[in-house]
Amino acid sequence: MCGIIGYIGNKNAVPILMEGLKRLEYRGYDSSGIGLINRKKLSVHKKEGKISVLEKTLSKTIHGKSGIAHTRWATHGQVNDINAHPQVSANGRIAVVHNGIIDNYSSLKSRLTSEGFKFQSETDTEVIAHLLQKYYTGDPEEAVQKALAQLDGTYGLIILFLDHPDILIGARNGSPLVVGVGEKEMLLASDVNALIAHTRQVFYVEDRETVLITKDSYKTVNMNNSVVSKQIEKIEWEMAEFEKGDFNHFMLKEIFEQPEVIRRSYGGGGRLLPGFGTAKLGGLNIEKSEYFDIDNIVTMGMGTAYYAAMIGAYLLENMARIPTVAEQSSELRYRNTIVRKGTLFFAVSQSGETLDTLTAMREIQNRGGRVLGICNSVGSTIARESDGGVYIHAGPEIAVASTKAFISQVSVFFLLALMLGRMRDIPTSAGKQYISELTAIPDKISEILEKADELKTLANKYKHYKNILFLSRGINYPVALEGALKLKEISYIHAEGFSAGDIKHGPIALVNEETPSLFIVTKGETFDKLLGNMEEIKARKGKVIAISNSEDNRIKDLSDDFFLIPESHEMVSPLLTVIPLQLFAYYIADALGKDVDQPRNLAKTVTVE
Ligand code: G6P
Repeated sequence: MCGIIGYIGNKNAVPILMEGLKRLEYRGYDSSGIGLINRKKLSVHKKEGKISVLEKTLSKTIHGKSGIAHTRWATHGQVNDINAHPQVSANGRIAVVHNGIIDNYSSLKSRLTSEGFKFQSETDTEVIAHLLQKYYTGDPEEAVQKALAQLDGTYGLIILFLDHPDILIGARNGSPLVVGVGEKEMLLASDVNALIAHTRQVFYVEDRETVLITKDSYKTVNMNNSVVSKQIEKIEWEMAEFEKGDFNHFMLKEIFEQPEVIRRSYGGGGRLLPGFGTAKLGGLNIEKSEYFDIDNIVTMGMGTAYYAAMIGAYLLENMARIPTVAEQSSELRYRNTIVRKGTLFFAVSQSGETLDTLTAMREIQNRGGRVLGICNSVGSTIARESDGGVYIHAGPEIAVASTKAFISQVSVFFLLALMLGRMRDIPTSAGKQYISELTAIPDKISEILEKADELKTLANKYKHYKNILFLSRGINYPVALEGALKLKEISYIHAEGFSAGDIKHGPIALVNEETPSLFIVTKGETFDKLLGNMEEIKARKGKVIAISNSEDNRIKDLSDDFFLIPESHEMVSPLLTVIPLQLFAYYIADALGKDVDQPRNLAKTVTVE
């Protein structure tokens, strides 16, 4: 949450920082600001609203060779110009951008106020600026160490000292921070996205480390002030992956990338052993014999990643026959979860930075448990701190509403379930069948995408409803939850997902002519039961939309609108059923004129609990 970036070098920092901010905007976009040092003056420009608003107010003449910038997702204090960052010390000589939350800010604020510091904003960040002033006696590193020692909470910080225009200092505790090492220039940011236009050479700052950069050097120290050596890594992502291309929105582009993304999730075949009907996954860090010691599995995530974790649990139980439950990381973290030798945990996170999931992972690890990550962002905190894991290789996902990461996470769970299942009960022939089901998915997704216009028409028909229910059973129940999440996230229409079996126990009270129900009805054990549930909705005058892989006349008779998807094995069906739901949500939000890629109140990477 919140994006931060700093630049120091020979070029004008302004366009570099503004361009970087735009690449970080998905992290938060209610206000933004920039701070620069030029001609021995510290200048700060801040504006409520999107980055484009700030950009319009910046005069073409401003420049500086070092600067910091911030895009905000408000936590403390209203969204306005004053609460935007950078926050500046009382004497106007130190500026700070911050991502995270200072838990003890209120006691620090009282103390600083009693010492005579005057606060301008309602932010927690302003205490950091004043603390830095308080401890600064000429040595910026000393001031930073002393100020940080006072802070409880999470932070990714970049600090600009007017007295030292040739350095920037960054610090991290709980919020990501990465250093980009360029040619006679150095950058610091919360995300590699913001750096890669300038350099591919990066290293990550770890918790409780601070880093001092000049245009041609860097030095990282830990809390004991001991120097920590850093390994430079090369970022492989291509710039084109960060562009919208011919699409109006990143979300639509990412939906249409999904056939290719699924191929990448199984390594274009490299993660499959077709002859043995199984999968091989390199980075799990588990000895083969240890797999037989797994008694149960817990999968966790938040938002869309949690729904992927739910499907993962379903796959692992059904294919590998290992008892598995899925949990929201934020609940798992604080409920004194049972950690035992035979329990394996999976942390699912596109960004690899979601703090709810990160803190849950650390809690389990501290109690001796083993946590494997299923992440997209290479080098992210969860990817680095997990005990092993699998990258989904979906490429950068920019739209706040997750689409391609979801199907890749599900696909990776399918590979895991296949691998563990083949070690237990699945015979070779069935394993081979599973592989051919998975490798047929990309073309089947393309078939659905070719019918996108049908979903656009459907979206136009339903865009004016105030409430929509999403219903299914079994492995597609989490898809119903995901479909409802997509719709509410980007269109602000109230949408809820339920298991179709549960509606008669309460939610059916919501059904009338004004509340349509979207059913996912796939062939399988619960097919007839779902038809029965559709009858129940029709009997109460509710409109029914059916997404199905069956052309059974009974579904057509029961539904007001029907969308056909290709047939597949039930275990891979979520990879298909979710696609029409993504497009339905997208086209409704677009038709209503909503900001699809940056919906209100949300952020893509949520680094606060
Ligand atoms: C936020 C985003 C969701 C995302 C969730 C988990 O809430 O808005 O789209 O699913 O975080 O994100 P992660 O990066 O951990 O997958």
